[in-house]
Amino acid sequence: MKQLMDRIKQDGRVLKENVLKVDSFLTHQVDPELMSDIGKEFAKQYQHRNITKVVTIESSGIAPAAFAGLALGVPVIFARKQKSLTMNQELLTAEVYSFTKQETNTIAISERFLNSEDNVLVIDDFLANGQAALGLIELCQQAGAHVEAIGIVIEKAFQTGRKLLEDKGFEVYSLARIQSLENNHVSFVED
Ligand code: G4P
Ligand code: NA
Ligand code: NA
Repeated sequence: MKQLMDRIKQDGRVLKENVLKVDSFLTHQVDPELMSDIGKEFAKQYQHRNITKVVTIESSGIAPAAFAGLALGVPVIFARKQKSLTMNQELLTAEVYSFTKQETNTIAISERFLNSEDNVLVIDDFLANGQAALGLIELCQQAGAHVEAIGIVIEKAFQTGRKLLEDKGFEVYSLARIQSLENNHVSFVED
């Protein structure tokens, strides 16, 4: 998506350890016009795939997922990160390990919002090692729902997430694919 790549080139900042800071338009301050176009781009790709729900994870997956849901005309569910493990019969839960943050979070969705009739588009802001996406897939599968595809705003193609998900048979569709962040320079796969 050219508009997104241009914005990353203009406003993205490379931090140490291969982290791209995009907090001026995606992960903190949100540009609603860009987000709206991102939602339409996901909808263009998936409008004929009978998507019934969009599923994402708090916090910065919510903005792109909400606009994807708007453009597709379906509800949006965001998994919550549980601070502590409390027994709750209504919750579907999965463990997500973050290599970046070196911590494990329990993520949860109420079983009221997903069922075996659902055909889910999973959306997230970043794809790095794929652990968040994998956790979301696990929650969908616990509900008996089908995962149609994984939609990503920014994929760090030099990390292992895409391969992990594709090896498990999932389709991954990314709007921007970053080849490298070396030497403080953003280069895209399409470059
Ligand atoms: P993974 O899920 O693909 O395995 O990724 P990883 O554990 O490495 O990522 C941990 C968190 O950092 C995730 O957010 C993810 O979206 C985010 N992240 C990963 N790489 C980048 C990056 O290059 N730039 C930015 N800005 N974020 C990145 P989170 O902590 O789970 O959620 P949130 O509350 O921040 O949305
Ligand atoms: Na984030
Ligand atoms: Na995220």
